[in-house]
Amino acid sequence: MFILHSQPASIDKEMESKDNHKAELLFTNTFGKDQSAMPEFDAEKESKQFYADIPVKHEPFFLKGAGALDWGMQNRLARVFNPASGRTVMLAIDHGYFQGPTTGLERVDLNIVPLLPYTNALMLTRGILRTTIPASFTHGVVLRASGGPSILKELSNEQIAVDIEDAVRLNVSAMAVQVFVGGEFETQSIHNMTRLVDAGLRYGIATLGVTAVGKDMVRNAKYFRLACRICAELGAQVVKTYYVPEGFETITASCPVPVVMAGGKKLPELDALTMAYRAVSEGAAGVDMGRNIFQSDAPTAMIQAVGKVVHELMKPEQAHDFYQTLRHEIAGVTS
Ligand code: R5P
Repeated sequence: MFILHSQPASIDKEMESKDNHKAELLFTNTFGKDQSAMPEFDAEKESKQFYADIPVKHEPFFLKGAGALDWGMQNRLARVFNPASGRTVMLAIDHGYFQGPTTGLERVDLNIVPLLPYTNALMLTRGILRTTIPASFTHGVVLRASGGPSILKELSNEQIAVDIEDAVRLNVSAMAVQVFVGGEFETQSIHNMTRLVDAGLRYGIATLGVTAVGKDMVRNAKYFRLACRICAELGAQVVKTYYVPEGFETITASCPVPVVMAGGKKLPELDALTMAYRAVSEGAAGVDMGRNIFQSDAPTAMIQAVGKVVHELMKPEQAHDFYQTLRHEIAGVTS
C-alpha cells in the first residue's frame, strides 16, 4: 500500500525555481541570446592569441611527386621514408615468395627481428608478417602483393597475390609488385601493378613498382629509365630499381616519383656501402636492400652503417669503419 506524502510548500517553490532556471539555460544555449553559453567563451577573451598577423604555413609534402596524394597515403609514406632525411632504409626479406628459405632468412625470428629497430620499413610477405613479426613493430610495412611462379618456372608470369582488404587489415604502408618490362609476361605484370594502384588509391595505400630484370636482359640506364618511367606513368607512387654505374642520375631525374635502390646479390660490405652512397648521391630516395644486409657477417652492424650512408650521406669508407667497429663490439659482447 502506498502512502502519499504531500510536499511542504517551500520545497515545491524551490523545485519550480530550479526548473525555470534549467529552461532558461536551455533556451539561451539553443538560441544564442546569452553568448556566455557559447563553448568558446572565456572571461579573458582579449588575451587569446589568434596570431592574426602570421599566415598559416603551407608546407609541401617532402616526397617527390607525392604532393597531390591524399593525407592517408602521405601519412603511410611518411612511415616508409624518414621525413627528416627524405630517404629510407627498407629491409627486403620477401625472397621466400618465389625462392623459399633463402640463406639468411631461414629463421626470420632469429635473424631479422633483431634488425627491426634499424629499419625505416620492412618489405615482406603477409605470411612472414603475420607469423613472425611482432605487431608492436610500428615502422613502415611494404607488403609483397604479387607472386605465383617459383624459381622453377617463368618468373614474369605473376598475378596479384593479396586482396586489398587484407592489406588494409594488416595496416600496411605500401604494396610491392614486380613489373617485368620486356619480359615474357610484361603486359600481365603491368596490369597487376595498375590494378593494385587503383585499389591502393581507394584506401590510401601506396604501390611500389619493382623493376624486375630477366636473366637475359641488359641492365643499363636506358633500360631502367624506361622501366621506372613506365611504373611511375602508370601510377606507382614509388619505384624500386637497380643501381647502374653509368647514368643512374638520369634514371632518378626522369622518374617523377621517388626511386629506391635495390640491393641485389651479396657484395663485400665496402662495395655495398659504396653502391648505396652513389645511389643516394645520384638521386635515390634510399635503399631497399636484402642480401647485402642479412647475409653480411654482422647484419646488425651493416644495417646501421647503411643507415649512416642513406640518412647522413656518410662517405663509404667512414661507414665501413663504423661497420667494423660495431661488428667488433657486437662480437665482443656475444663471445
Ligand atoms: C626483388 O625483386 C625481390 O623483391 C626480392 O625478393 C628482394 O627484394 C631482393 O632483395 P635483394 O636483392 O636486396 O636481396
